Order: sequence, then C-alpha cells, then structure tokens
Amino acid sequence: MARKAASSVNGPPSPPAHGESKPVTVPDFMAAKARGVRLTMLTAYDCGMARLLDAAGVDALLVGDSLGMVVQGFEHCLSVTLDEVIYHTKMVVRGASRSLVVADMPFMSYQVSPQQALTSAGRLIKEGGAHAVKLEGGERSAAAVAAICQADIPVMGHVGLTPQSIRRLGGFRVQRHEEQVIHDAVAIEQAGAFAIVVECVPTALAEKVTKAVKVPTIGIGAGAGCDGQILVIHDMLGLSDLHPRFVKQYADLGKAMMDAVRSYCREVKDGSFPGPEHGFH
Ligand code: KIV
Repeated sequence: MARKAASSVNGPPSPPAHGESKPVTVPDFMAAKARGVRLTMLTAYDCGMARLLDAAGVDALLVGDSLGMVVQGFEHCLSVTLDEVIYHTKMVVRGASRSLVVADMPFMSYQVSPQQALTSAGRLIKEGGAHAVKLEGGERSAAAVAAICQADIPVMGHVGLTPQSIRRLGGFRVQRHEEQVIHDAVAIEQAGAFAIVVECVPTALAEKVTKAVKVPTIGIGAGAGCDGQILVIHDMLGLSDLHPRFVKQYADLGKAMMDAVRSYCREVKDGSFPGPEHGFH
C-alpha cells in the first residue's frame, strides 16, 4: 500500500488548526491503514501539553504509564496506579479537541481477570473521559481485550517489548522472537483490538506484524514499516535523561528551560528583574 505521508487521518491533507476540525474517531484511526495514511501518536500527561499536541495535529494522545518514569521519577512504570492514570487522563481530555485520547491500563489493573480488566477500563472511560484504552500483552491478554471490547470500549493492544514485563525480561530489551510477536499481535486483533502498539522489535519483524494484521500498527523502536509511530513526548523534546537509540530528539527544550531559568535567577539576584515595565504605577 502506497503511503500518503502528509495526509491527515480524517480529513484534508494538512493538520488543521486547533478547534477547527472533526475529532479523530476510532473508525477514522482504523480506516487510515486502508487509506495508506500514516498515523501520529505521542504521549501526553497534562492539559497544557495536550493542547499543544492537539493543535499541532497529532492524531492520538496516549496517557501512558510511562508517566511513572517521566513525570513521577521512577525507573519503571510498575508503581503507577489506575487512579493516577485517571487523574492525568482527565487533564489530557480537557486539552484535546481533535486528537483521540487513549488511556494506558497500568500494571495489575487488568492481569487478575477479564472482569477486573473490564472494571478498570470502564473507570478510564467513565471517570477519566478517555476515548479508548491500551493494555500490554499478546495471547495472555486476549481474554481481557475481548471482555473490554464486549462493553464497546475500544482497546489498543501492545506487543513486542512490554514495559510492564520488565521484571521477567530483565530490562528494556529488543524483542526478536518472530513467531511469538506475530502470534501475539494476531491474538489481540482477533480479540477485538482496533490498533496495536509494536515496541522495540527489529524493523523486518514489525513489517511482518503490520502485514499479518488488518488493524493499524503503531511502532516505537520498530522502524518505518508500521502504520504509525508513537514517541514519549519528553524524549522527543529533550525533556528526559533517557536517550534510547530509536528516539529522534526534535528539540532541546531541557536546555532552553535551563537557560531561561538561569537568566531569571541571575536577573533576580542582580536586581534587573523586575524592571519598571513589570510594575504597576
Ligand atoms: O506508556 C507509554 O508511554 C507507552 C508507549 C511508550 C507506547 O506505552
């Protein structure tokens, strides 16, 4: 399928201005694959960031459990709770007028039983206001995906490197087991997932997964052959200490912030801020 690199997922060729366009729906997202339109997805954890990403034309925002690392300062995402994801999802939803908002199901919010998965997903939709949920795992999560889909809650799958499995995997490692990854993606699609994140697998394997399923694949560290891409916003803007090989840093906002804050501190100390123009007379 030929790709239309600059097309919008649900409308005209370039990303429209904030508030002027139709919201991206789950059917739009799914149809993008057949239309050959690449999907864009980034993480967001608060309203201000969501507003910017939405206005910039990002198709979908993920309230990822990566918030454990980039917002809360942990080395992994295992401590993130369902209540915390709901809290952040509420903020992101308020900032998104066009982007589809997907809320991540945190560790142990769906592994116990399909019933638990459905209850947790329901809270993300009802309390958080998410448009869809995402959970990790292939075949082992298929029953949970099916139970959630039965209630008309759209589910995004996540195969390959699944960060919630870090204790079993021993670290964030590239997943090379072809048969397993393809099998997992197909199992999740058959259970009803509307899209699948494919994380940290070789490019050739991600291409095979993308061909094996009809729903869009969203790659991270999986090469250019997926139907869309996702990055953690802090990584691509230079706001985190992590520099995974698969991340392209599009800006160095960390440095820009440090420079601005240093100038502020210097000017307060030397008395040049506030100036007369910043006061009331
Ligand atoms: O939590 C997250 O941010 C994710 C993406 C990296 C896919 O799951």
